[in-house]
Amino acid sequence: MTDEQLLQLANDIREKAYAPYSGFKVGAALLCADGTVFTGINIENGTYTPSVCAERTAFFKAISEGYKDFVKIAVTCDKPYCSPCGVCRQVMVEHAPNLEILMGNPKGTFKRMTIKDLLPESFSLLEDN
Ligand code: THU
Repeated sequence: MTDEQLLQLANDIREKAYAPYSGFKVGAALLCADGTVFTGINIENGTYTPSVCAERTAFFKAISEGYKDFVKIAVTCDKPYCSPCGVCRQVMVEHAPNLEILMGNPKGTFKRMTIKDLLPESFSLLEDN
């Protein structure tokens, strides 16, 4: 799975985003250590607070299927790049402290960072991160 392929999966699933309130569709594709990919979309709600981002949808799908080892996530939106929100960063660091993050767009350009770049000195109750 190349970076470009993972970004393409995020772009493809982005079409399914449920974002009638913001109009801002986001897609994500999470690569597991064994090569399995879980996709995610943002799913909004008329009462706003139950809304969930694309990144967390992908993570929660994967975790609920028993996956524990994550390598990288591609996130795409209709801006030059989409920087994950603070809540998603906290979820990422909990489950994937060495995660790589590809932040891209439908044109195919992207920015590469790690969760350690995006959330330094993060809170953890676990000893090993
Ligand atoms: N959103 C995501 O899904 N991922 C991000 O990284 C940033 C924001 C969603 C949340 C909401 O549905 C919409 O984009 C506008 O904030």
